[in-house]
Amino acid sequence: MPNPRTIVVTGASSGIGRDAALHLNAAGYRVVATVRREEDAVALTDEAAAPAALIPVQCDVTSDDDVAYLAQRLGELVGDAGLFAMFSNAGVANMSGDVTAEGCPLPTLARLMEVNYLGSVRVIQALLPLLRSAKGTLVINSALMTRTVLPYNGGYAPSKAALEAWADQLRREVRPHGVRVVCIRAAAIATPLEAKQDASSVPADGPYPEQHAFIQGGLVLMRKKALEAALQPRRVSELVQHTIENPRPRLKPIVGGNARPIWLIGGLPLRLQDAMMARVTRRMTRAGTDATAD
Ligand SMILES: NC(=O)c1ccc[n+]([C@@H]2O[C@H](COP(=O)([O-])OP(=O)(O)OC[C@H]3O[C@@H](n4cnc5c(N)ncnc54)[C@H](OP(=O)(O)O)[C@@H]3O)[C@@H](O)[C@H]2O)c1
Repeated sequence: MPNPRTIVVTGASSGIGRDAALHLNAAGYRVVATVRREEDAVALTDEAAAPAALIPVQCDVTSDDDVAYLAQRLGELVGDAGLFAMFSNAGVANMSGDVTAEGCPLPTLARLMEVNYLGSVRVIQALLPLLRSAKGTLVINSALMTRTVLPYNGGYAPSKAALEAWADQLRREVRPHGVRVVCIRAAAIATPLEAKQDASSVPADGPYPEQHAFIQGGLVLMRKKALEAALQPRRVSELVQHTIENPRPRLKPIVGGNARPIWLIGGLPLRLQDAMMARVTRRMTRAGTDATAD
């Protein structure tokens, strides 16, 4: 193909980003996939359907230098055609240490903001000129937690909420320039994200001892459902493909396990939301307590 459509996928070493990079590559796109380690770059190209059209670039989204290099490589690759699409996906969760609103340490909150909010913004700002040239589509991997916030989320929901608020501003500013901005709101998707956490370090004492059982319960339920179709990363990859190929995509589509009921809870009056979330919290805490007792 002389000028294949190019899409950038950030955070393509594992989980959703890896699957999206491989899926879009198999669908005929030239995919520029960011990773942070050489071995992840090799593993990704080894599995690609069209390895010549899967270009790994090392990029930590918190590094100005890495992001400048990514923008330069892309500029050379796409030239005047510009960038057809970008999937801003790199992100972290936090299920380690104190995950309560009162106790989550400020450096931890800052790290989540640095990666999930400022990291995404850094890459998007750098690539927007290329997206504008192609009147392309920006897809941001936000989270359904921006609408329906779970307790004990360790600073994750605020970082994604900041990103989504920024994306709302961006969408309105770039619309006249022909760029579409979509925030995917995923509920539970089975990925290595949770295996990267030290959930045993969540305190089982102090003023909020229930946070420990809650996190353990979340992991237990996740493992139980990991093979369900709704939780597969491929669902997100297909949604990304549908979004970039649709001239009028849904602006905040939902995906993932139990996405519909969780989305509905987020639209209820606040006191009713709180009551529903208290039930969800009790269920997850019970699952965690039972698992610890087994
Ligand atoms: N899984 C879910 O249930 C769920 C639900 C809603 C939203 N999401 C969102 O989906 C996205 C992908 O998560 P996932 O579940 O697929 O988890 P994952 O398997 O842990 O993937 C996260 C990706 O982000 C990369 N990353 C982390 N920090 C980075 C940094 N500073 N610079 C560059 N890349 C970085 C990771 O690279 P390394 O391997 O190098 O760390 C990895 O490639 C995240 O934004 C997450 O918030 C996930």
